Amino acid sequence: MYVTTSGRIHNFGAGPATLPLQVVEECQNALPNLNESGFGLMEISHRSETFQEIIDSAMGRLRRILTIPDEYTVLFLQGGASLQFYMSALNLLRPGDHVDFLVTGAWSQKAMKEANRIGDASPRWDDSENGFKSIPKNGEYSIRNDAMYVHYTSNNTLFGTQYHHLPDSDGKPRVLDASSDIAGVPIDVSAHDLIYAGAQKNLGPSGVTIVILSPWAMKRVGDDLPTMLDYSVHSSKGSLFNTPNTFGIFVLDRVLNWVEENGGLEGSVARNIAKSNLLYEELDRSSFWKPHAKKDSRSVMNVTWRLPNEKLEEKFLQEATIAGLGGLKGHRSVGGIRASLYNGCSIKSVEALVIFMRNFEQANH
Ligand SMILES: Cc1ncc(COP(=O)(O)O)c(C=O)c1O
Repeated sequence: MYVTTSGRIHNFGAGPATLPLQVVEECQNALPNLNESGFGLMEISHRSETFQEIIDSAMGRLRRILTIPDEYTVLFLQGGASLQFYMSALNLLRPGDHVDFLVTGAWSQKAMKEANRIGDASPRWDDSENGFKSIPKNGEYSIRNDAMYVHYTSNNTLFGTQYHHLPDSDGKPRVLDASSDIAGVPIDVSAHDLIYAGAQKNLGPSGVTIVILSPWAMKRVGDDLPTMLDYSVHSSKGSLFNTPNTFGIFVLDRVLNWVEENGGLEGSVARNIAKSNLLYEELDRSSFWKPHAKKDSRSVMNVTWRLPNEKLEEKFLQEATIAGLGGLKGHRSVGGIRASLYNGCSIKSVEALVIFMRNFEQANH
């Protein structure tokens, strides 16, 4: 099998996903002795000064990179975005409250199912019958007058679709699952009241979930919620109510540092556009490739496509593995191929993929 000079393959996995090599090496160095504290990275108390500096640094960097307004609260929690499906509804809704969903994929469906445990969640737009190939345009759906908020998923990891505009919420608060494009695309945080995202795609390892809350969202938090599901508890303790994922928060800080060193959010956005353009140009070059998403809804983070038949898809994946290109198998609900181009994926990896695709098409067309 072909491997790059560092011994790492070109990793197109959908998450946990490839991280910049610099970050991986920083972790390696910190494992026995974190920031010259004498304590190893996985062996240090979350109550230590050394760790407090790390979590403060990660929060500060995230606020700078995403231009999070000062009055917003930032939390680092556990339980993944999947816990936020329920926790966001539990904190923001009261029994029977209406809440509206734009259903653009399996993650939105799951989020809606959990919100329905608290309130009356309604799909205002749902593309399931068309195989989740597109994103709604403003004006294609209506929001209920009494909806408490509108929930949407900015990037659909499985299907490879993504919003390229701020969805209209008819003046209602927006709640956003940004798990697979946070810090990879431009975002207006101030236009949202709650944003949540697992770190394991663009920003770090699994086990850290970023939650960003507006003052409105913090005021909505109900009384007497189960302690671990109460945003105000985590906020009052600076995300240190209980033992956080100290390792994950260290890695998050290092990835954010790498983002800042490499042009900030603008740099990430430009690289992600360049990478996805390169791959979409190849997909549009030949009818051999069958891209899944409609052109105006294409994701810059997850690119999905089929081949003429399943046998060829299997062959593609086998030969790609031999060529040192990994993590390309599409999600079972879509099939085919998926290349995830998160922040840690370099343009060199995409160039290698495109060269492989050209050769594969020539040999099999
Ligand atoms: C958009 C989106 N939302 C939610 C999830 C679920 O995240 P987790 O596994 O962190 O619960 C994922 C996972 O891939 C995702 O891509």
